[in-house]
Amino acid sequence: MGKIRIEGGRQLEGHISISGAKNAVLKLMAAALMAPGESVIHNVPKIQDVYTMIELLRTLGVGVSFTDHTLRLSVGEEVGEEAPHEVVRKMRASIQVMGPLLARLGRARVSLPGGCAIGERPIDFHIKGLAQLGAKIKEEHGYIYAEASSLIGADIQLDYPSVGATENLMMAATLAKGTTQIRNVAREPEIIEVQNFLNQMGARIRGAGTDVIRIEGVDGLSPAEHTVIPDRIEAGTYLIAAAMTGGRVTLEPIIPQHMASLIAKLREIGIKIAIDGNRICLQSTGRYRAVNFQSLPYPGFPTDLLPQTMAMMAVADGISVMKETVYSNRYKHVSELRRMGANILVADRTAVVQGVEHLTSAEVVVSDLRAGAALVLAGLAAQGVTIIEDDGHLDRGYDSLIAKMRAVGADMSLL
Ligand code: UD1
Repeated sequence: MGKIRIEGGRQLEGHISISGAKNAVLKLMAAALMAPGESVIHNVPKIQDVYTMIELLRTLGVGVSFTDHTLRLSVGEEVGEEAPHEVVRKMRASIQVMGPLLARLGRARVSLPGGCAIGERPIDFHIKGLAQLGAKIKEEHGYIYAEASSLIGADIQLDYPSVGATENLMMAATLAKGTTQIRNVAREPEIIEVQNFLNQMGARIRGAGTDVIRIEGVDGLSPAEHTVIPDRIEAGTYLIAAAMTGGRVTLEPIIPQHMASLIAKLREIGIKIAIDGNRICLQSTGRYRAVNFQSLPYPGFPTDLLPQTMAMMAVADGISVMKETVYSNRYKHVSELRRMGANILVADRTAVVQGVEHLTSAEVVVSDLRAGAALVLAGLAAQGVTIIEDDGHLDRGYDSLIAKMRAVGADMSLL
């Protein structure tokens, strides 16, 4: 994206359309690998992570067409077995092809994802679970090699409700012999999306959205057509933008229940919110109270909205205490927010934010996707011109960010 210029202090007013959920579509694209034929996915956001997944699928031999937010994936009778380093290093979610490839081909070779800006992020839960399904796994030359002449259903207990491990294991177990139970699974709405898509393909899965998922293995899958749910993190980011700028915006479509933890916090700090079907309207005067919270797996407060909420608390009345429980290093944006006048103290995974009267503009640098979102929000609320240097992070997860913000009155442009 390069450099973004924001002249702060404009109230956001108007309507914003919410795109399809990044964290759902990437997994549906991986799932499509399991059925020869053409799968179709609608409401796909035009974001870099989707383009990276397209690149990976093409590497595996899948024909891809992407027009008007609709993806058509033509999966052949044969698909490749290797997710190469040059793609996996761009996007960690590439590892979600491991379960589908192993289930479909009986083997997969996937580059080990490296470290990541927000923490170490190992994939041990994925590997342990696949081994329990009967896969032989070895790590060599920076790759994971997984092999199984046939996967066998198993009882799997996850150590932690990992989103990615839940999805990878669900997909692998779909074509396993017999029944698989996975306990302590992630309950994110995106997991339900994966279940629904796989069931449309002919899988027999139930329990997504609860903490136990049961999968009865089937012999084969057929292609499916699906429309992706709205992105609750994109919507949350725009709600916070409106709250911070004293604005009034309507967002549509959203699924209110997917955003319950953020909506509760916004109401707690004094922001007016009205919900009408799949539409949400937020009205703010720009002043609000401090609040305490911690990030948790769904339905707790999403870690992917913690940096943005911290930016909001930087100009709240009072002291907020927040704790990041999911990642080890989600505070990379803090030093940049401090350069804009925020008063934030970090000790281990806890941040104490003393709200200030206003933020001031500065030149800041984006370290990761949600850190970038936090800096955009800070820039929208700050006095003066903020320059945000971004090496492509925001494009990974926000479809038409600048156009959407400009349409509701933000003074924001690409330099
Ligand atoms: C997904 C989301 C990401 C979100 C996260 C948590 C996608 C593409 N990304 O990431 O936006 O922030 O869920 O809601 O859907 N862990 C291990 N071992 C493992 C797997 C995970 O230790 O094998 C740890 C991770 O390092 C992290 C925590 O578990 O600290 C949660 O990770 P996980 O839920 O797996 O997140 P992702 O699926 O990678």
